[in-house]
Amino acid sequence: EKGGWSSFMAKEVSEEPEAVANTIRGRIHEGTVVIPELDGLDDLFSGISRIVVIACGTAAYAGQVGKYALEKWARVPVDVELAHEFRYRDPVIGPGTLVVSISQSGETMDTLMAVKFAREQGAKTLSICNTQGATIPRESDAVVYTHAGPEVAVASTKAFVAQITALYLLALHVGRIRDTIAAVDIAEHVRELEAIPAKIQRVLTLEQAHIEQLAHWMADTRSVLFLGRNVGYPIALEGALKLKEISYIHAEGFAAGELKHGPIALVEPGQPVFVLVPSPRHSALLHSKVVSNIQEIQARGARVIVIAEEGDAAVLPFADEVLHIPLAGAMFEPLLAVVPLHIFAMGLATARGLDVDQPRNLAKSVTVE
Ligand code: M6R
Repeated sequence: EKGGWSSFMAKEVSEEPEAVANTIRGRIHEGTVVIPELDGLDDLFSGISRIVVIACGTAAYAGQVGKYALEKWARVPVDVELAHEFRYRDPVIGPGTLVVSISQSGETMDTLMAVKFAREQGAKTLSICNTQGATIPRESDAVVYTHAGPEVAVASTKAFVAQITALYLLALHVGRIRDTIAAVDIAEHVRELEAIPAKIQRVLTLEQAHIEQLAHWMADTRSVLFLGRNVGYPIALEGALKLKEISYIHAEGFAAGELKHGPIALVEPGQPVFVLVPSPRHSALLHSKVVSNIQEIQARGARVIVIAEEGDAAVLPFADEVLHIPLAGAMFEPLLAVVPLHIFAMGLATARGLDVDQPRNLAKSVTVE
């Protein structure tokens, strides 16, 4: 079933381009987004004042990325909450709230309980799910399936990029219904999205061997930090989770702007730090802020591994390693920047002789609360 791959995870990372392509397929028509599953369900989106995204683990990080798109394109305030935290407080939700759950398996008990709770409170519910007919979509008012195909490895990879893709489609769909985004802008974002599979493939083709070599050199590393900003921030969290999960080493993701508020104290000579650099083409200011973060940690002896767009020369003087991603629209960089992090986590676990598909203490689907 692994079809010649050394692990399911390796196979599934290689399938990230088609996971995105298959999630888009049939949902773009003449430059706009048409989601057949949401046909006739416009009132799920028109009368709402708020969206709450609930999920766990990697799916929650996809939700955090989706928040940027939903707020920018659909102009709805979005909160992203861990399902198990949401469920056990007294959240202010009701008929004006759309609760969007995200789950690869559709069976995660924490997420399921939160969806049921939201329905009891009168909220509208929409599920983003990768498994046809699973429990969470059955308990929801609507479902948008991700079409990543079955994911076997415990570490979620292709489902993550498919979840972000589905959230972007949803954000454009809701923006169109609420009239918060111009048709020309939808058309441009749709073009960007359609170009993503080939760009992910380019990262795999050009950088995979380099990243695996890097992971091999770093096999004895005891801790890795990840920094990102804006849409890169949840990607930093995702990079850290994947590393913890399958390599069993300490890893933490931070918002780059938070460094000087505490985490920079962790940086000592030799500390590996991955930094996700946003393109200077979209915001020279944001880019320069991240470059100065890089200078700060480099001055303290960090081993800086930068993920930057092709041609970004500003990062070169301060980076020990540069991993390149193709040029993409600001919102679309996460779909590319996460790929090196998935490869790295897999490479490091492999270099440490671990079973990347079946990490200790973890199950693919967490069906207990
Ligand atoms: O099936 P789900 O998407 O609901 O699973 C949620 C998390 O348990 C899952 O993403 C977990 O964090 C992964 N093992 C991360 O790689």
